[in-house]
Amino acid sequence: MTTLNRRKFLILGAGAVVGASAFPLLGCGSDEEVAPLGAALGSASTFLTPTEIISTDGVLETSLIMAAAMVPFGDGERWAYTYNGATPGPTLRVRPGDLMRIRVVNQLGSPTNLHTHGLYVSPEGNSDNVFVSIAPGEEFLFEIQLPENHRGGTYWYHPHRHGYVAEQVSAGLAGMIIVEGDYDSDPVLAAATERIMVLSDPAIGQDNGIVSVSMMDRMMGREGDLVTINGVHQPVMAAETGSLERWRLVNASSSRFYNLALVGAPTVLAGNDGGLMETPQQIDSLLLAPGERAELLVAANEPGTIVLQTTHYDRGGMGGMGGSDSNEPIDLLALEVTGLTKEAAMPTRIEKAAIAKPRAFTGQRTLELNMSGMSLTIDGKIFDHERVDQHLTLGDVEEWTITNPSTMDHPFHIHIWQFQVTDASDQRLISPGLKDTVVVPAGGWVKFVLHITGFTGKAVYHCHILDHEDQGMMGIFETTAR
Ligand code: C2O
Ligand code: CU
Ligand code: CU
Repeated sequence: MTTLNRRKFLILGAGAVVGASAFPLLGCGSDEEVAPLGAALGSASTFLTPTEIISTDGVLETSLIMAAAMVPFGDGERWAYTYNGATPGPTLRVRPGDLMRIRVVNQLGSPTNLHTHGLYVSPEGNSDNVFVSIAPGEEFLFEIQLPENHRGGTYWYHPHRHGYVAEQVSAGLAGMIIVEGDYDSDPVLAAATERIMVLSDPAIGQDNGIVSVSMMDRMMGREGDLVTINGVHQPVMAAETGSLERWRLVNASSSRFYNLALVGAPTVLAGNDGGLMETPQQIDSLLLAPGERAELLVAANEPGTIVLQTTHYDRGGMGGMGGSDSNEPIDLLALEVTGLTKEAAMPTRIEKAAIAKPRAFTGQRTLELNMSGMSLTIDGKIFDHERVDQHLTLGDVEEWTITNPSTMDHPFHIHIWQFQVTDASDQRLISPGLKDTVVVPAGGWVKFVLHITGFTGKAVYHCHILDHEDQGMMGIFETTAR
C-alpha cells in the first residue's frame, strides 16, 4: 500500500495546534514531503456539492445514466464510473409520501441495478428490488413509493447487482438521498448551512479501466489510496463566524472505515442512519463504517481553520495478515472560518417524533458472520439467490443477535427495516437512534430489535464491506403476511 493520500501533514497530528492546518493554501508551507499525486493537484481544491434533484408535487422524476467517464480531478482528470457524468451522482431530495420514478440506463460493461439504502419502501417489483439485473445497454424504470410515515434522514443509493457491487461503487457509483422530515423545521437547524458529504476512496486511475484487485484485497475489502469527499481530495470550504453548519455524511467507500473527529471545533453528533437524534451529543470521535451515515453540527465560532480528520482504526484482518498500515491521521476536509469571534447557536434538543421503545419481542434469532478458509459466510453458507434464509412475518418484533467469531469487523446491514441496537459486546456500538448498518466487531456480537412492518417480499441482509457481499456474505429474508 502506498501513502499517496497522506501528504505528510506535519502540523496536524497528535498534539496539533488547534486551528493550524496542513492544507497547502492555508499557510502551512511545508510542502517538501508532498507526494507526487498531491503535488500534481497543485493547490487546495474547492469543496463541490453534487447537483440536486428535488421532488415536485410529490414526485421525483429523473434518469440516471450510468457510464464510465473522465471526470475533473485536481488540475487534471481521472477515470470513474458516473451517474449522469458525475461522481458522486445527484443528490435526490424527497419528502415522506413521495414517489420516485427513476429511469436507470446501463452504459457500463457489466450488469447493474439500483438500491436505495436505508429507505423504508417495498423490496418487490420495480421498487427497491436488488434481484433486478439490468444488462449492459439496457434500461429499467424504478418506481419507489415512500410511505407517509417515512422517517426524515440521510440515505443513499448505489448499485447492488451481486458480484459487481464493490467494483461499481468503488469506481464512483453512489449518491445521497435526503428525506426531509417535519423536525427539519427546527429554526436553528433551518438556519444552518447544510453540506452534503459523500466519502469515498475511489481507485483513482489516469487510464480507462478498473484498477485490478488481488484475491487478498478482496478478502480484506479493497481500499483506495486517496480519500475524497464528493469526488474531491481534501476540499476546502468557507464559513463566516457565527454560522452553524450541518454536515450530512455517508460512508460510500466499499471497505474503508473512518474514525472521524474535528480539529478546531467540538465534534457534535446530531443524527445517524435513522435521521436526527433528539439530543445532539459532543463526542471524541465517530466510527463510520461502510454504509453508515451521520449528521454533524459544526459551530464556526472563531476565525481559523476547522479540519475533519480520520484517524487510524484497526478493523482486523485475515488472522494476522492485512489490517491497516498507518497510524497517521488523514485530513479529509477544511472549513476556513473568517470574521470576528461570534458564537453560533447550537440546538440542545431537536423536536421530533420519539422513536417507539422496542416492545416485547415475538421471536429471536441468531446469525453468525464468519470466514473459513477463503469463504465469507453467514451461518456457514455463502449467498444463494434461490434460497430463503430467514422467514419473517409481518407485525413481528424480533430480537436478532449477530455474532462474529472471525478476526475482522463486519458492518452488518439489513434492507428495508431499521433496528434499535439494544446491546453489544462493545458498548460504544449502542446508539440512541435507529440504524440499518452496524459494526459487528471481530470476536464480538451485537443485539438489536427489529419491528417487521409495512412491506412483504424478499430482501437481503449482508456485510457492507462490498467485496464481502460480492463473495457471498449475504442472505435472503422473506416476509409474508400473517
Ligand atoms: Cu448499501 Cu445492500 O446495501
Ligand atoms: Cu442497503
Ligand atoms: Cu465483512
